Parts: sequence; structure tokens; C-alpha cells
Amino acid sequence: MYSKERTVFLQNITNELVKKESTGSIFQNDIVQLREVLHFHEYRYYILNDPLLSDYEYDQLYKALEKLEKSNPELISPDSPTQRVAKGLTKDFPTVQHLVPMLSLDNSYNAEDLIDFDRKARELSGLDMIEYCVEPKFDGGSISLIYENNILVRGATRGDGAEGDNVTNNIKQIRTIPLSAKFSDFGIQQAEIRGEVLINKSNFVRYNEQLVEQGLSPLANPRNAAAGTLRIKDAAEVAKRNLEAFVYHVSYFTLEEGKQIPAGLTSHDASLKLLWELGFRSPEKEKKVFTGIERVIEYCNEFEQIRDTLPYEIDGMVIKVNSFALQEKLGMTSHHPRWAIAYKFKARQATTKLLDVEFQVGRTGAVTPVAKLEPVAVGGVTVSSISVHNEEYIREKDLRIGDTVLIERAGDVIPQIVKSLPDARKGDEKVLVFPKTCPVCQNQLFKEEEEAVWRCINIECPAQVVERIIHFVSKDAMDIRGFGEANVCKFYDMGFLKDIPGIYTLDFSKINSLEGFGQKSIDNLQLAINNSKKQPLNRLIYALGIRFVGETTAKTLAQAVNHLLDFKNFSVEQLQSLEDVGPKVGGSIHHFSAMKKIFTCLKCLNV
Ligand code: IVH
Repeated sequence: MYSKERTVFLQNITNELVKKESTGSIFQNDIVQLREVLHFHEYRYYILNDPLLSDYEYDQLYKALEKLEKSNPELISPDSPTQRVAKGLTKDFPTVQHLVPMLSLDNSYNAEDLIDFDRKARELSGLDMIEYCVEPKFDGGSISLIYENNILVRGATRGDGAEGDNVTNNIKQIRTIPLSAKFSDFGIQQAEIRGEVLINKSNFVRYNEQLVEQGLSPLANPRNAAAGTLRIKDAAEVAKRNLEAFVYHVSYFTLEEGKQIPAGLTSHDASLKLLWELGFRSPEKEKKVFTGIERVIEYCNEFEQIRDTLPYEIDGMVIKVNSFALQEKLGMTSHHPRWAIAYKFKARQATTKLLDVEFQVGRTGAVTPVAKLEPVAVGGVTVSSISVHNEEYIREKDLRIGDTVLIERAGDVIPQIVKSLPDARKGDEKVLVFPKTCPVCQNQLFKEEEEAVWRCINIECPAQVVERIIHFVSKDAMDIRGFGEANVCKFYDMGFLKDIPGIYTLDFSKINSLEGFGQKSIDNLQLAINNSKKQPLNRLIYALGIRFVGETTAKTLAQAVNHLLDFKNFSVEQLQSLEDVGPKVGGSIHHFSAMKKIFTCLKCLNV
């Protein structure tokens, strides 16, 4: 989209603007260039994944633009990067009609299906060989975008195919969707574009972790997360989820007066190229064109092999007759075009029996129900147990012991139960009763009003103690190599290790007598334990596993004290005055510092 010369030119302007910004000399007449430069860097970052500017510099330029637009609101343009910012809540999403019905795709599952598809297309067209364009089938929420006079004016969900929901404000939060694109360079006045909204795997995992941390139910797969996010009423929340989008089809366009269809726009692959040049993320790099179905089949198989290496989910490939003239000749049914077909990869869903639910106690005392399943292969692994998170989740999904459940393993994401299948019930399934006492130490469980998680608040509960030690020695915490979960459990069960400070007073002569422990492994363990005393304070704070204190908060806290023991003298208010420490974190640290014993012991042991 940007030529080499243009890239150099914009980079030079960027440097000038960065310099001007740092000396406070950006003025109103810089507004157009500022906007252009910010568009350019968004494109480098979001579409090409190849930024040319640091986040800090981008933010400074963005703030400068915001400031200028605030004092000169008449100069705000609808495609300004500032116009993505979410304002207020949407009451409801009005229903809108698509310019062209959003048809679905016919499905195929094996080479024979594809050979059949090709045979029919050849018969209908009277051709011996057909050229196909093959691209990934993105697994998210389907959208349509309308651009008028280069500006994004509407974004809608697929809905029933004829009508969808107007979710323009949410769509504007997606950085891979340009707010404006130079359709006019190709003589196009209005265009309707189809694409798919996705959430990438790592953002999905992070998002689910946050939900569980807040005691909410995680989502079953990235597809539900992406499609669900599009319908959230708070656009600021949508922005936080970092949705992405691919566009893959120009379903409709009108030309400016006197203009002709852009030269060369006679095939699907040419339209993907055009979209790419306009600054959209189309599968320009992933698509391939082949003549004849054999190579198409090979490419589908090759892509299935690399499926897990992609940062986002795909559930197959889409094979499209490349020539527009031929597409028109083949036409469509009321459900799908006859010129395209989806090739579905092997399913990552399976049904199995829910045999039992066990309750595990974590290091913060949270009691997590874990479903024990009849082992089943899904997405290349055998699954026999799955976390079912909390009481509310079990109730929402109406999970009963003996139920047949549908499970899904989306890529390398932890498997989840999608739903139970009530129609398969025989009548002897048992409703689950959540325990009222800790399954390990038998103390009463508690649940805070706004939380979904039941907790054991006995800090001495053996399950919590063991989990805390496991966390303490883990790689991101004190990184005591050679310890590991199995050894922590073994030493604890044998009575050699009772708590975190006990790591530093381990009696190695006792360990020596255990099977599988040679002198070398003991020496290594001893060395790793001694070395861990040199870990910086932030790691030690993180290693203690204080609720809500992740690695970032641990760094903030480490800057405020010289040693852990200093926290004893901090009130909740003082803790809250630290950056990133709110009432929840403050309260949690304060509560934890009640465990002075650990702090004191660690100090005595020079940790
Ligand atoms: S083409 C008339 N291309 O899959 C054109 N669809 O299961 C029809 N999808 O409703 C769509 N990736 O939401 C097309 N590369 C791709 C796609 C794709 C994902 C979705 C689309 C469609 C669904 C059918």
C-alpha cells in the first residue's frame, strides 16, 4: 500500500514530528501530516506486523493530535485515529439490511468431496480445467463493512444473512480495519466488504484467565469470544479485547461517475490484492491460485499441518473459483454460491461422558471443580479431565454426573466443555452439589458476594501450602531448578518440607536416602536453592503467591521497600497509594502480611 519512496517520505516526516513534539512545537498546521503519519504507523504495526516507531513515540504523536483536535474540533476528520475511541454505552444495535445477502458456504470434508465439487463446476461451465483461489477459513464472527467516499460508514454482523446488527462503534475498535481507504483511487464510490472478526489465541487465553480470576466463566473458544465481543454494549470493553479482522470478499461496489471497473479486477485473487493495497488485512499472503483440483487438495492438506502455528484459529480452507466471469456463470443457491466451497479440517470437538467432578484447592484457597471424563481424543490429544471453573459455570451449563458432554479443544488452547447434551440423558444423571467444607482440610468454605469462587480461608490448609511452595519454586518465580511439582509433593508428604522457609532448611541427608536421588541431583538442587537467594526482591514478592499480585505489581511493590518485612508497617491506605495498587491488591497484601512468620523466617535465612 505504501511504496518504498512513500515509506521513506513518511518516515522522514515522522522524525520531524517526533522532534517537534519533544520541543513542544507542534501546531495546528501539522494536523494533516500528524494524521497521515499515525495512519501509516498503525498500518505498519497492525497489518504488516513490522512497526517503525516505538510505542512511546506513537503515543506522544497520538496525544499531540488529540490535543490539537480538542482545541480545533472543526478540524476533526471521521477517519482520524482518535475517532476509534469508544464513547459511552450503546443502547441497542439497530437491525440493518446487507446490500447483498451474506450467503454461507457449502462444506466439504475430504478429497472426494472436493473432486466432486470440481466435477460439478466443470460440467456447469463446460471447461476442462478450472482455476481456483484457495485461502484459510477464518474461525470467528462474520462481518460486513460499508465504505462510502473512502470512509467506513457501517459495520454489521451477519445476522440471518439478509439483516444483521449495526455494530459500527465496536467495529471501529478493531485496529486491522481501516477507518478510511482510498477506494477513490480505483474509481470506487461505495463498497461492501465481507470479512471475519477474530481474537488471537494468546489474547483469548489471557482474556479467559482474567475471567476466571474475576470468578467469571471462561468462554469455550476464540470464535465465541470474537462473535460475542462484537455485541458488547460498551465499546471501551471491546477495545480491551484486541479483536482483529481479515477481509476476503468484495460483495458489492458502485463506481464514481464516468469511472470504469478497475483494470485487472477480473478475479478473486485480484480483489484480495486490491484490498491489501487499500490497507486491509486480506489473506493476500496466505492465498494461492491453482489450476485443477489436485494441487488445491495438496495445499489444503499442507495448511492443515501448519494450522497450530498460526496465531489465530482457522477451521478449514475456502476454495473459490478465481474468475469473476465464471463465478457469475455458476451462480448460487439460496444458501451458498456454487463457485465456492469450504474444506473443513478435522473437528476439534468430541462428545464424551462426564464421570465425576473432583474439587481441587489452589494456592489462594480457591476451590476448583474438575470434571473427570471418559478419555476421548480431541484435536490430537487425549482428554480425561477438564476444569469446570466454579459453581455458577456448572449451573449455567447444567452439568450433571453421567451427562454426555460436548468438548472442544481450540488449537493449543486448554479444552473446555461447550455444553451438556440433555437429550442424551437417561434419567439417572446426578445434579452436582458443591461442597460447603474444604475437601482437604475440612474447614468451612466462604464465598464473597460479588465472586463466583468458593474459598478455603485456612492459610495452613495442606493443599494451599503445597501449591504455594510449587509456585514459589517455579520458573517465573524463584526458579529453583530440580525442585518441580513432583518433588515438592514428595518432600511434603514425607514430612521433609512444611512451608516456604523450609526450602532453605531442607535436610539433604534425608533426601539422600530417597530412591532416585543421587549425590549429583542433590548437589544441583542445593546449588539452585542457594542461588535463588540472589533473586531480586520483585521475584521474591511474586513468588509468595499473594492474591492479585502478579509480576508487574510485584515490581511496583519491590520499589517501595527494602525487604518484605517492611510491609508489616504499611497500612492498606499506604499500600494503595502505590501505582497500580487498588483496594483489592492493597487488602490482599495487607492480609498476607499477617503471615509475618514467613517474612521473618525468610529474612533470617537471608532470602
Ligand atoms: S467467502 C459469498 N471466505 O465461513 C462468499 N468465507 O461457513 C462467502 N469464512 O459465512 C464467504 N473465512 O463467515 C469466505 N476466507 C473466507 C472465509 C469465510 C471464513 C466464513 C464466512 C462464512 C462462513 C461459512
